[in-house]
Amino acid sequence: MLHYFLVLSSLVATIFAENAKDFDGMRLEFVQTLWRHGDRAALDELYPIFESNWTFGGGGLGELTPLGMSQMNDLGTMFRRIYVEEQQFLSHRYVGKEMTSQQCSCARFNELQEKWAGLPEVQTNRKKMLAMNLKVAALYNVTENQATFWPYPDAWKCQRNWFNETLYRELPFYNEQLYREALTTFAPYKQLMEGHFVNSSTVDGIDIAHETQVIQSGALLNELFDRAQEKANCIKAGRNCISSVKELHIRKSQPVNIKDLKYLLENIKVTDEYVFCAPIPVNFSYDCDPQIFKCRKLDFGYKNSADWVTLELLCQFDVPQLTFWVQRFSVKDIVSYATHWFNSENSKLEFAKFKFINPTLENFTIDHLNPMPFCEKRRNRCPFVEEWKDTDMSSGVDILRKDGLLATFYVDPTWVIFYIWHKRFPDDV
Ligand SMILES: *[C@@H]1O[C@H](CO)[C@@H](O)[C@H](O)[C@H]1NC(C)=O
Ligand SMILES: *[C@@H]1O[C@H](CO)[C@@H](O)[C@H](O)[C@H]1NC(C)=O
Ligand SMILES: *[C@@H]1O[C@H](CO)[C@@H](O)[C@H](O)[C@H]1NC(C)=O
Ligand SMILES: *[C@@H]1O[C@H](CO)[C@@H](O)[C@H](O)[C@H]1NC(C)=O
Ligand SMILES: *[C@@H]1O[C@H](CO)[C@@H](O)[C@H](O)[C@H]1NC(C)=O
Ligand SMILES: *[C@@H]1O[C@H](CO)[C@@H](O)[C@H](O)[C@H]1NC(C)=O
Repeated sequence: MLHYFLVLSSLVATIFAENAKDFDGMRLEFVQTLWRHGDRAALDELYPIFESNWTFGGGGLGELTPLGMSQMNDLGTMFRRIYVEEQQFLSHRYVGKEMTSQQCSCARFNELQEKWAGLPEVQTNRKKMLAMNLKVAALYNVTENQATFWPYPDAWKCQRNWFNETLYRELPFYNEQLYREALTTFAPYKQLMEGHFVNSSTVDGIDIAHETQVIQSGALLNELFDRAQEKANCIKAGRNCISSVKELHIRKSQPVNIKDLKYLLENIKVTDEYVFCAPIPVNFSYDCDPQIFKCRKLDFGYKNSADWVTLELLCQFDVPQLTFWVQRFSVKDIVSYATHWFNSENSKLEFAKFKFINPTLENFTIDHLNPMPFCEKRRNRCPFVEEWKDTDMSSGVDILRKDGLLATFYVDPTWVIFYIWHKRFPDDV
């Protein structure tokens, strides 16, 4: 994968470079580069090697290994040679405005997996894989759900640095032959997931092999196209839009420096979504102007990414969709938030979604908001946002605000959802 992207990125650079020579007066405006991360550690621990046994480098489970870091370093060196030294496209010193980076969350093959399950080729390969899982699970003394014992090929591959010294000694059943067998058994299935079938793979008139490749490359090409178009529009309008991005993901395992964060938020315009996946110090709440977020979505996805979001700040966010993937607020806070919305004129909010372990509606004392049980005449059972279009919220209670806006307080075993019905029935506009 990495090689493919390297080729693609150098190709882009080459095409642009030639254009620059061939057409006087033309200026290289924009280069888009795609790459995948380098070698990374196993996603799971597996006896007898645990994360605590690692003696050098590596950011942890699923993170870059020292090899991966050196691969990224090589890649950066190559980019620097091409873009800074040879093409002189970027300044010698890092200038934030010259670059932007985004993580592509391209749709994967999952969408087709249900369809292909019945194909003989898939079934044959799957059977072999499950048999291998059973065999290895038994060796690991796993007794429950043996067929779903998946972590070992990934863990073994990543742990292999250790095999000679440790695994062969600690794990008598483990040997090169078993390792090869696992790789060989999984290889055909991995190829299927990339759309390489031996036999015809047409189901219900859909060519799965073709569609799999289309889905994977299609999302990537769309992403490339959208960004190029965005940039082209900026140039046409005479603006430098590098300082504006659709999504900003802040990912880090160490606490973010508040000054840097403030600088980033103040200098980069985000039109769609912020994703916070890094510990952010609590005292950022003093520095943060909640009005700075002029986007559609705020996502807090890491255990300490929302510590700084006080109830007061929460009530001041002027953003339609809020999601807290970690339990941040108490029952009392959530009731205060709903009360604040009820007494406000906030007409933007679409939903606020709070991770919560085993909430019950009884936990939330909202009698002062005149809660009403579900009624077919008042609203649809399921909301109209993609995320919950199949979630029947008729067990939730409704709250009607004086301006006529209706909200529902709904809980499931892991979430508390405060949903606003800007559209109550399928035919509403
Ligand atoms: C790995 O660490 C575990 C504890 O985390 C320890 O019990 C075990 O002996 C270590 N294994 C090796 C091979 O050092
Ligand atoms: C492809 O189809 C042939 C004929 O039905 C069958 O013998 C062969 O095993 C199939 N190959 C795979 C990889 O499923
Ligand atoms: C499985 O159990 C056997 C017998 O108790 C033991 O010798 C072996 O080390 C265990 N294997 C693992 C991977 O824990
Ligand atoms: C482990 O041993 C095999 C066989 O002796 C050798 O080919 C391989 O390079 C060794 N691997 C490591 C990581 O030392
Ligand atoms: C915020 O808190 C951290 C640690 O709790 C501290 O190091 C830092 O100086 C504080 N920053 C401000 C602006 O108070
Ligand atoms: C919610 O209510 C249940 C009983 O209905 C109670 O057991 C639980 O402790 C309450 N949880 C919270 C967070 O108040």
